[in-house]
Amino acid sequence: MKITIFGSGYVGLVTGACLADVGHDVICIDVDEQKVARLSAGEVPIYEPGLENLISKNMAAGRLRFTTDAAEGVAFGLLQFVAVGTPSDEDGSADLTYVLKVAETIGQHMESYKIIVDKSTVPVGTASKVERAIAKVLEQRGLSTEFDVCSNPEFLKEGAAIEDFSRGSRIVVGTDSERVKNAMLECYGPYNRQRDKMLFMGVRSAELTKYAANAMLATKISFINEVANLAEHLGADIEEVRHGIGSDPRIGYSFIYPGCGYGGSCFPKDVKALAHTAEAAGHPADMVNAVERVNSRQKNKLFEKLYEAFDGQLAGKTIAVWGLAFKPNTDDMREAPSRSLMESLWEAGARVQAYDPEATDECRRLYGERDDLVLADKRDEALEGAHALVICTEWKAFRTIDFEWLRKTLLEPVVIDGRNLFSPNTLKAAGLSYYAIGRGDSVRPVLA
Ligand code: UDX
Repeated sequence: MKITIFGSGYVGLVTGACLADVGHDVICIDVDEQKVARLSAGEVPIYEPGLENLISKNMAAGRLRFTTDAAEGVAFGLLQFVAVGTPSDEDGSADLTYVLKVAETIGQHMESYKIIVDKSTVPVGTASKVERAIAKVLEQRGLSTEFDVCSNPEFLKEGAAIEDFSRGSRIVVGTDSERVKNAMLECYGPYNRQRDKMLFMGVRSAELTKYAANAMLATKISFINEVANLAEHLGADIEEVRHGIGSDPRIGYSFIYPGCGYGGSCFPKDVKALAHTAEAAGHPADMVNAVERVNSRQKNKLFEKLYEAFDGQLAGKTIAVWGLAFKPNTDDMREAPSRSLMESLWEAGARVQAYDPEATDECRRLYGERDDLVLADKRDEALEGAHALVICTEWKAFRTIDFEWLRKTLLEPVVIDGRNLFSPNTLKAAGLSYYAIGRGDSVRPVLA
């Protein structure tokens, strides 16, 4: 099948590479000339395990190429995927500028029947807007070419996107057209062999499914964080509580890990957008609003614990930060808890020595050169001359530490663990003051 994908960002690249890999012919269009040049030279601008190999393999096979030529792209594919960004507007709503621009471009170049596939995460009602935008341009051109617009949201996790695309739990398609249904069955056929994962539904239901899925997951995280904070006040251990509730299959173990708040490109943006959609529909979503509030509070937790440990005396202190990415196996720092922490530390006059296996370049790009930030090349270098260690991301490489050595290395024996990686008793036995999330007495200040 011939497929065109607008947008060579994270979602567009994964979709393009995975569809090419099962034999489709794919053209990826992007307006960014530099990006297209880099991709055409086999250079992948984002870190996603397996993606670079998949792209180069399929480029070599002649099934995948990159161009800025929108006319060529529109002429090429029966399916025209829209996978461009939908950033948050100032009021939290999703900004549809790029999506509607692509719709216009398709309208400008369309000469035959096309199926427009909304892959970007877009608010309910966007498919109708895309339809209107294309129809308007066609009308200006004096054409009445047929087309359909369907919704096909993605459920990709960063760091596991290729696995999620190939072996995801479902493929949601919102359409009421048989023609679209058949085309989408053909497109995803190779990924739909083991069992039927295609869920066909109304366009608006598909659009809402994406937001509801992310908001539900974010709710689980904010809920467990709320209970963790309560556990601290009540002298309970959230890790025991987590096992206690997760063992009930109705609750389950996944997505109830307490921590320093969710980040990334999806949850924060999508929760805010859903709240905005609800507000605009005259039906404020109380729970969704609370999920967002709890999360922004949670992102301050690590700083609050440091503040408590040092009795507010953070000016002039050097704090080692392990983990900058919003989660392991990515270099993405969008809305990462590490950022709230570092920004608060700088405001309090402290210095940061940070290490991340993948995200140091991204950190340099975001914050530039500054006197109060040192980016270490190695994990343990970040500890040299540091008063305390804070763990923001649960990279595997952070799980094994010689605690005796850690106590001797840090100027003050303070470890703040935003991901509950260790046993409080083990750290205490090694003479460290260990502050985790929701772990009873481990939160009390132990420093004199
Ligand atoms: C998420 C969804 O999982 C995915 O289906 C959707 O398409 C996009 O958004 P992603 O943002 O890549 O994917 O990350 P995910 O692995 O889901 O983690 C999101 C955030 O939640 C991270 O900051 C993570 O640390 C946090 N999290 C996750 C918790 O704090 N506790 C948990 O139990 C799980």
